[in-house]
Amino acid sequence: MATNGAKLSKVACSKTHGEESPYFAGWKAYEEDPYDPINNPSGVIQMGLAENQVSFELLEEYLANHPETCNLRENALFQDYHGLKSFREAMASFMEIIRGRRVKFDPERIVLTAGATAANEILTFILADHGDALLVPTPYYPGFDRDLRWRTGVNIIPVHCDSSNGFQITVEALEAAYNAAKMRIRGVVITNPSNPVGKVIERSVLEELLDFATRKNIHLISDEIYSGSVFSPAEFVSIAEIVEARGCEEELERVHIVYSLSKDLGLPGFRTGTIYSYNNEVVDTARRMSSFSLVSSQTQKMLSSMLSDVGFVERYITTNRERVRIRYEIMIRGLKNAGIECMGGNAGLFCWVDLGGLMEERTREGELRVWELMMKEVKLNITPGCSCHCSEFGWFRVCFANMSLETLEVALLRMKNFVGKRMITRLKD
Ligand SMILES: Cc1ncc(COP(=O)(O)O)c(C=O)c1O
Repeated sequence: MATNGAKLSKVACSKTHGEESPYFAGWKAYEEDPYDPINNPSGVIQMGLAENQVSFELLEEYLANHPETCNLRENALFQDYHGLKSFREAMASFMEIIRGRRVKFDPERIVLTAGATAANEILTFILADHGDALLVPTPYYPGFDRDLRWRTGVNIIPVHCDSSNGFQITVEALEAAYNAAKMRIRGVVITNPSNPVGKVIERSVLEELLDFATRKNIHLISDEIYSGSVFSPAEFVSIAEIVEARGCEEELERVHIVYSLSKDLGLPGFRTGTIYSYNNEVVDTARRMSSFSLVSSQTQKMLSSMLSDVGFVERYITTNRERVRIRYEIMIRGLKNAGIECMGGNAGLFCWVDLGGLMEERTREGELRVWELMMKEVKLNITPGCSCHCSEFGWFRVCFANMSLETLEVALLRMKNFVGKRMITRLKD
């Protein structure tokens, strides 16, 4: 706050960051009273954080066996906004392996950023001006309000998807949002696989999305941060596959992919993301802008060694996929046992759960009441769908990969107790 009455900028005073949403409020509640099986067994269990800790020891093992990845003198001095060539090559290869080698990525088109957060903001700065808008299908990752909107002054126009078709995007919904917007639309931002729904976008929908973007002459950004966390690799189709197969220069230039190692490798603290664009001007500008959000040389060096070890990468991806799938199965079974239905998923670190049955009525207030009660009565933090701008109330995102199996069992038991108690209360009402 300014102490002498001098004014702050519009960005500093803007309320569009989204910090007030239950998504961030739940994190705060967890930080104030975190669960620990020994020291704080009645604390809050964090199920609102899409973090992947299930394959951590594989990374620890690799690094323990490769101490050469740390070279202080070399890494302390080098800092170039083009990023290390060896790291861009390793990143391109990693992204290809995740996509079953069905696409090729050119390391010269890889722009390094401090996570997907910075990648999404940089792309927005490049593709749209203050006051323009991006179409974003709902429900969407709550952080987009901050990343796409806050500092750029760009608006988000929600494209409402619903449970009738498993929250898949339709041309009708895209057209309706486009036609209702009273602003200049510059692009569509999709998340494939979807956060929070935990499902891949079908090939036919991707084709339609690209047709739509071409028809309207706008950009298509595909955030593929969970592409390596698809339970079975054949199920995931990257927008890269679609646009490359079509081979149309004009279409290629409107497609931009965002990726990061925060989810598939479980390294959000390393702040390692990337923009991959088929558009030369976008690549050049993104590279210049990346000066504000570089990945440290130490991180690049360490990860380029790890990611260029193809044997390790293949083993890691296969093992991690299987572990995430097993977690998902445990979760689905546990929730079913508690009387809760989920939307069938095939990717991501969370389930998309319908708790509408616990609500007196499917309203925003009813949804927030369930979220508050769950926090108060059984100390579980989950993410209410309204913070993902879901247009149907009653849906929640519940994360399962950021804790030990033992903690997950405790969480599922708490969930069961909560549902049982709520049902009794509702019957009495
Ligand atoms: C869809 C999506 N995009 C971007 C991010 C931000 O990722 P990073 O940690 O790489 O900035 C997240 C994190 O949850 C996400 O789910």
